[in-house]
Amino acid sequence: MPQFRSTYAMACATQPEFPVYCLRPAAVKTATRWFIDNFPGRTLFAVKTNPYFVPTVAAAGLRHFDVASIAEIEDVARQVPGARMSFMHPVKSRLSIRRAYFEFGIRDFSLDCEAELDKILEETQGARDLNLFVRLKVSNRHSCMSLAGKFGISGDPASRLLLRARQAADELGICFHAGSQLMRPKAYVEAMEEVANQIRRSGVIIDILDVGGGFPSIYPHSSPPPLADFVDAINAVFETMPVSETCELWCEPGRALVAEAASLVVRVELRKGNALYINDGVFGGLFDAGQPQFIYPTQVLKSPAQLSGNLQEFSFFGPTCDSADYMPGPFLLPANIDEGDYIEIGGLGAYSMQLRTEFNGFYQKDLVEVEDGPLLSMYGIARTEELVAANSTLQQWDQDQLPGES
Ligand SMILES: Cc1ncc(COP(=O)(O)O)c(C=O)c1O
Repeated sequence: MPQFRSTYAMACATQPEFPVYCLRPAAVKTATRWFIDNFPGRTLFAVKTNPYFVPTVAAAGLRHFDVASIAEIEDVARQVPGARMSFMHPVKSRLSIRRAYFEFGIRDFSLDCEAELDKILEETQGARDLNLFVRLKVSNRHSCMSLAGKFGISGDPASRLLLRARQAADELGICFHAGSQLMRPKAYVEAMEEVANQIRRSGVIIDILDVGGGFPSIYPHSSPPPLADFVDAINAVFETMPVSETCELWCEPGRALVAEAASLVVRVELRKGNALYINDGVFGGLFDAGQPQFIYPTQVLKSPAQLSGNLQEFSFFGPTCDSADYMPGPFLLPANIDEGDYIEIGGLGAYSMQLRTEFNGFYQKDLVEVEDGPLLSMYGIARTEELVAANSTLQQWDQDQLPGES
């Protein structure tokens, strides 16, 4: 893969006709080491966020992966032989359960209903060495992206499922997901209190508590407290939970490990007032800039001498003919930006490369590695890049209030 000192160096050297993903493996390693060193338990990487970084995460010392499909399982098995995988999708096809268990040696399976438990037991021929994780439904109210609508069980049905799973499992786990991009440590506190109530109600003894993903990254519209605050909060509640001394604590971060480790360099094809028509959009790598209205950090890749000092708010249109290919932002950029300028859009290491489509014939396939730091970092990684002085987007909007909060 081509390597460049910085996104700016790449844009100057190649003047790319198509969007280019600029990957920062060093940032993934820093994030991975942070979790290994600071989370008081076991960390799994949620592969769905960006399978490209699987070997990078492994090289940093993390060899346990949360996988959601047979394709992800094959990918991890090929790239990290001997890695442990946990099949944490609560609804799996019968064939994928069979292949996961017999072909790939997977023993960890999540579920949120009795029919799925029956499937797992049937397809593993009544195996006695299963680690079963019952996914509980918890509040997602402190997240930017709720995942509450689809999976999870609670109340008496959860108690019945926990008791049945306890009898069938070698190890019994409880897992949950409090939503992605959690903005408050109390999201975990409240979810773990809900779990504690459910454990008391059902009277089961659990071996593993998996607090899921949700650890935040940093965006101009969403600037969370330090990750250490989240870990401290989890640790404090875990101490009070009705679980045995030997109960393990797991987490499955995705976004927090990789989001800041990739940027996309796009080109302005046309300017109409404060709207920039760029060569990537919501059907490409910028899905979450559309309806979810994520505001990513941006900087124009011009030398400081060519920039006007004034910053202005812009919205983006993507390259397809669909009106939904619109990203309201606002994205702060120099007032004199125009056709032909390159923009670095940061924070795209998670849920971007995986969501690309080929709609209208646009597909962002060019990847390079860069050595400069991310535009914004949760880990204090410095941006050692010559454009920093002129950078528009290290400025933070104070808009981290969540819907419904006052
Ligand atoms: C089961 C599971 N674990 C972990 C994650 C990763 O979540 P995040 O990227 O918010 O850390 C997801 C995301 O959908 C998930 O479904």
